[in-house]
Amino acid sequence: MEVVQTRVDEVESKFGVKKSRTPAKLDYLQSATGLMLALFMWAHMILVSSILFGKDTMYEVSKLMEGKPFFGESYPILVTFTAILLATIFITHAAIAIRKFPGSFKQYTLYRAHMKRMKHSDTNLWFYQIFTGFVMFFLGSIHLFIIMTNSADIGPYASSDRIVSEWMAPLYLLLLLAVEFHGSIGLYRLSIKWGWFDGKDPKANRKKLKKFKWAITAFFMTLGLLSLAAYIKIGLEHKANYGEKYIPTSEIQGVIK
Ligand code: HEM
Repeated sequence: MEVVQTRVDEVESKFGVKKSRTPAKLDYLQSATGLMLALFMWAHMILVSSILFGKDTMYEVSKLMEGKPFFGESYPILVTFTAILLATIFITHAAIAIRKFPGSFKQYTLYRAHMKRMKHSDTNLWFYQIFTGFVMFFLGSIHLFIIMTNSADIGPYASSDRIVSEWMAPLYLLLLLAVEFHGSIGLYRLSIKWGWFDGKDPKANRKKLKKFKWAITAFFMTLGLLSLAAYIKIGLEHKANYGEKYIPTSEIQGVIK
């Protein structure tokens, strides 16, 4: 190891080139932004799935995100700011990831051949990350922009109308598939890369981690599909009254009293 280091130092001083720490820093930044996005997605899917507990629950969650319980009034601009922050992390993560994409058809075919020869499931995972990441570039950006510019229109009816009457259902379905695979594969790869759960028997723990990865994917995928189905049902029922905002049961009861 020392011999290699000496050789590197010799080359550096002879040719006046400096070893760059940038690739290591970029790797670190990619891991950190990926972790933030994956954890955000878990929280996001749980919040979105509030619709499964009824329209009133989803309404309350949307008001919570607008800060109503804290400030007494709704500030949708808070959701806009959150979306801008998320978009910044999302773009940073994607921009750093591009450097690992196959740069030409030749590189792509070489990698595919390598995949076939290796028959190693963790090597295949890398390819799925590239594919799902590419899909998310486009679909995720559209969703983020719409949320950013329509932050006041999040609620049981507004969201369902967007999904059915504004045709977001197919986009959400594809985005959901991409996100759920990408997120859990990403977290699994991060744990392996940084040895978070290596313990005393890294090989056995890697197997356990892989099972856990599938469980997480199945859980969030089911949650996402059920939520999407619930929004679609409400959106279809509400089609004739497209654009009308949801009034929570508590407010209706208040008026009747
Ligand atoms: C601050 C940022 C975000 C906010 C406030 C937000 C909000 C929402 C809301 C309210 C919905 C319900 C449908 C609707 O109203 O249109 C939704 C659905 C969805 N969002 Fe986001 N989102 C954000 C970021 C993201 C990101 C970064 C992704 C992934 C790249 C994503 C993926 C999805 C998916 C897949 C669905 C469909 C969920 C399902 O089918 O159950 N969201 N989002």
